[in-house]
Amino acid sequence: MSLPASRPTPQPGPPSTFAADVRAGLTHAPQKELPSMYLYDEVGSALFEVITVLPEYGVTRAEERLLTRYANEIVDALPADVKVAELGSGSGRKTRRILEALCRKRPTAYCPIEISRTALQLCRRELADIERISIVGYERDYLAGLAEVSRQRKDGERLFVLFLGSTIGNFARLAATRFLRDIRAMLRPGDTLLLGTDLVKPVDTLIAAYDDSIGATAAFNLNLLSRINRELDGDFDLHDFEHVARFNPDVRSVEMHLRAKRHVEAHVGAARLSIELEPGETIWTESSHKYHADEIPAIAADAGFECAHQWVEKEWGFAESLLAVR
Ligand code: TRP
Repeated sequence: MSLPASRPTPQPGPPSTFAADVRAGLTHAPQKELPSMYLYDEVGSALFEVITVLPEYGVTRAEERLLTRYANEIVDALPADVKVAELGSGSGRKTRRILEALCRKRPTAYCPIEISRTALQLCRRELADIERISIVGYERDYLAGLAEVSRQRKDGERLFVLFLGSTIGNFARLAATRFLRDIRAMLRPGDTLLLGTDLVKPVDTLIAAYDDSIGATAAFNLNLLSRINRELDGDFDLHDFEHVARFNPDVRSVEMHLRAKRHVEAHVGAARLSIELEPGETIWTESSHKYHADEIPAIAADAGFECAHQWVEKEWGFAESLLAVR
């Protein structure tokens, strides 16, 4: 199947609403799609927490190993007085090491930016015990939140932006560079960005990571339809759909789809939408692009950063890159 060259980024701009985005995505031809940011409601965020501890999903553990091992080295590479902004904090568990290392040096402000209120609450609870930390959460999309954090910084305070996990991988390649450029536009000399990227690895390892044996990822993906049913008065029958993960070698991404097992007719009241799917037709919900560690400096340069340091976890295949504003 050929796919459109671009798809909605994980963070569409502010005027969009869930109903309007669902309407636009499900009427998109030839490939129906749904923006992946809506995967993370309360149920979705809880299911994603499960994914992060699955044996098949090595991403989170690999990153935790890196951050545990190199937290001091990372913090030593930063300017003295930093304010931390994290794009998509999730539960905050993997950020703990970095924040502890920073707070050992001086009191530090931590600003998680999250569209998921549940994740924001989780992360506040998870990290509140760190000594000398002050946490101010922003329930906003990434760029709007970062603009606000940047505006509110004190004179002389440098921003240290965290963009962990492999969320950058959820952007199409060109969109990823564009997104880094958008981040760069809000930063000043002396500011830094710590970027997590999942690395290319054997296809069967990748597929298993996004189609695990207990079906947690399938449930995470299917929850998007049940969220539409709950919040937008939809009538999808989840039994009509199955989760599919497949590797697209042209762009080195794992694509997640919801595939109709039979002919489906469905309605979404709040979006004033009736749709039909042919048997086998899919709704594209997410792509996760995989990188080579040595691609990152070039991408960073394209976006106005210099790759100052890189730490690579070889067991799973994950890189953390420290990008400095040029
Ligand atoms: N950013 C994560 C990744 O690409 C998100 C993720 C993990 C995900 N599993 C998923 C998104 C399954 C959609 C479906 O690894």
